[in-house]
Amino acid sequence: MNFEIFELERNQSLFENEVDYNLSESGVHPLKLSEILTQDEQDELLNTNLFYGYTNGTPALRQRVADIYGPNISIENVLITSGSAEANFLAVMTQLEAGDEIVYMVPNYLQIGHLARSFGIKVINLPIRQDLGWQWDLDELKVLVTPKTKMICVCNPNNPTGALMSDEVMVGVIEIAKEANCWILSDEVYRGAELDGNECRSFAGATDKTIVNAGLSKAYSLPGLRLGWSVGSVDYINRAWSFHDFTVINVAYLSDWVASRILEYDRRKKILNRTKDHLKYNLNMLCDWAENVPALTITRPQAAAITFAKLNIPMSSEEFVFTLRDKYSVLLTAGKWHGMEGFVRFGYGTPADYVKSGLDRIKTFLDTF
Ligand SMILES: Cc1ncc(COP(=O)(O)O)c(C=O)c1O
Repeated sequence: MNFEIFELERNQSLFENEVDYNLSESGVHPLKLSEILTQDEQDELLNTNLFYGYTNGTPALRQRVADIYGPNISIENVLITSGSAEANFLAVMTQLEAGDEIVYMVPNYLQIGHLARSFGIKVINLPIRQDLGWQWDLDELKVLVTPKTKMICVCNPNNPTGALMSDEVMVGVIEIAKEANCWILSDEVYRGAELDGNECRSFAGATDKTIVNAGLSKAYSLPGLRLGWSVGSVDYINRAWSFHDFTVINVAYLSDWVASRILEYDRRKKILNRTKDHLKYNLNMLCDWAENVPALTITRPQAAAITFAKLNIPMSSEEFVFTLRDKYSVLLTAGKWHGMEGFVRFGYGTPADYVKSGLDRIKTFLDTF
């Protein structure tokens, strides 16, 4: 099989551990187990038998996830997956086939776009527009969604812009999807990392054909658990679960164990507050830095540890990222890898002094222009 290279992940996989300053990461600096579990829980963890567990996730964890989405979502609507990456994979594998057509939000993480095209699915990119505050123009969406459309794919909060979809656009997307009787796939892995501390509206339960994917890697600062989930109708969840038998069978028992404890209401809120405070502090620092950097325009994101900076110099995003990487040992991600040229993404979720040192290096590079 010929498959497209997932440029964003490939470049990160190859270089994120090689550079002095990795500012390509989109999540918040990871937590330690000792910071999130009580001493009793840590002792219990060490004495836990390592079962396979429940292949769809333990009832305790599925209940915790369901609670995040409110009274209309129950544990039958939840499947625990190996990261939201697996949840996205399952959505593509179970609902789409060669020849289908999807409308896809760009810029984006591009996992779904690359994967879908690799399987012979026609991917119609619809850019969110910076002049609209990184929103979709609903008139453009209406034109692209036709009886052929199988799925509308969004990423909210958006990676790489950190923008939140407005209520008006969200309502419009739901109406358009209902009219076309197509699926909505909403990747919400950055939900919970809003800079104002208010979790944005989720698409969960919007229609019978809505899939919401999320996980603990970003807002919860726990990428090493590799824990994600899918929320959807009981039919969808059962279908995705039966495909999950072919992928990882189930999430590591230890990850399920930890997740079911830290998603308990108070602890979850405590982690999200830490995320918000950390991001606010670092974003102010980044914006102050950017004031004296005419080569880039940085706009304040509404969520997530990322901002999509416009390049005001005649250089492609890849050339910029490769030069910075090779000469200054700092890694950013290129707009091209997110489906939009002319920008580079900064990740500012690592510790403040680390971000600051990385920015100093970038400034040295930019001073050469
Ligand atoms: C939008 C989006 N979805 C999914 C993922 C995969 O995340 P994970 O599998 O760690 O939950 C990422 C990772 O950066 C992402 O940015």
